[in-house]
Amino acid sequence: MSALATQVAARAAMLAAAGREGSARVIVVIQRKGGSGKSTLTVNLAAVSGESHPAPDPEGDAPVIALGIDPQGSMEQWARRVAAELLPFDYVVTKGRLGTLPELVRDPNVKRIWVDTPGFVDTDPDADSDADPLGDGRAADAMREALEHADLALVPITTEFLSKEPAEYTIEYVLKPRKIPFMVVINMWDAGADGKTHADLKKAEEWCIERGYPYAPRAVRKYKIHSNAAEKGETVIHYKEQGVGAKARNDIYSLALAVEQVL
Ligand SMILES: Nc1ncnc2c1ncn2[C@@H]1O[C@H](COP(=O)(O)OP(=O)(O)OP(=O)(O)O)[C@@H](O)[C@H]1O
Ligand SMILES: [Mg+2]
Repeated sequence: MSALATQVAARAAMLAAAGREGSARVIVVIQRKGGSGKSTLTVNLAAVSGESHPAPDPEGDAPVIALGIDPQGSMEQWARRVAAELLPFDYVVTKGRLGTLPELVRDPNVKRIWVDTPGFVDTDPDADSDADPLGDGRAADAMREALEHADLALVPITTEFLSKEPAEYTIEYVLKPRKIPFMVVINMWDAGADGKTHADLKKAEEWCIERGYPYAPRAVRKYKIHSNAAEKGETVIHYKEQGVGAKARNDIYSLALAVEQVL
C-alpha cells in the first residue's frame, strides 16, 4: 500500500469512528486559485467513476454523485447544458446550503461523492497566521462541511507558475491542519504540437517533489476538447475513442484509476 493509501485508510477509519455509516468515499477538489480546473476535473472524474460504479437499479439513484457547493453555482451552469439521462452519475447543487453532504454519506447506496468547491479568499489579511483561512460566510461554511467529510482532496495545479502558490497555501493552511490526505493533479499541461514538450511538466513535478507532495502519476493535458465539452455539457465518456478525444479521455481515466487506487 502506498503512503497515501495508508493515510486515506486511516482517515476513513477515523470518519467511521466519528459516526459515518455506509461505504461512501468523499473526494473534494479544492484549490484557492480560480480556473485551475476544479469543476472540469470534478464532473469528468464523476463520469468515469459513474461508469465503473453502475446503479444496481437503472431506474434508481446513481451510486456516484457530483456535488457542487459553490454558492455562485458554477456547476449549476454546467448542469443546465447537460442531458442528465446521458450521465452515469447524479449531480447535486447545494448553492452553499448545509446538510446535504452529511445526508449523502449516510446513504448505503452511495459509493463516491466528488465535490466541486469554489476558490476561496483570505478574508482578513491581519488575522493570525494560524487562523482558518477559509474565512466567514456561506461558502466558507460549505467548504468546512465538505472538508469535514473528505477522505481525499485533489489539488489541481496548472503548469503556469501562478497556480502553484495558491496550491501550496491550500495544502499547508487548509488541508494539512485538518489532516486530510491529498494528491496534487497537474492539469492543463501543454505537451506541444509534437506531444513531447516535457519542460513545463517536469517543473510542476519537481515543485511537488521538493515539497513532498504526492501527485497523480499522469498529468492531464491541455486540450480544447475539454473546454468545448464543458460548453456542450459533455464529459470525457462522450468523447470519440480516437485522435484527440482518445488522448483527452485517457488522461482522465488514468487519473480516476490513480484516485481509486488510494481509496
Ligand atoms: N485540461 C484542460 N484542457 C483544456 N481546458 C481546460 C482543462 N481543464 C480546464 N480547462 C478549462 O479551463 C477553464 C477553467 O476550468 P474550471 O472552470 O474547471 O476551473 P475551476 O478551478 O473550477 O475555476 P473556478 O475556481 O472559477 O470555479 C474552463 O474553461 C475549462 O474548460
Ligand atoms: Mg469551478
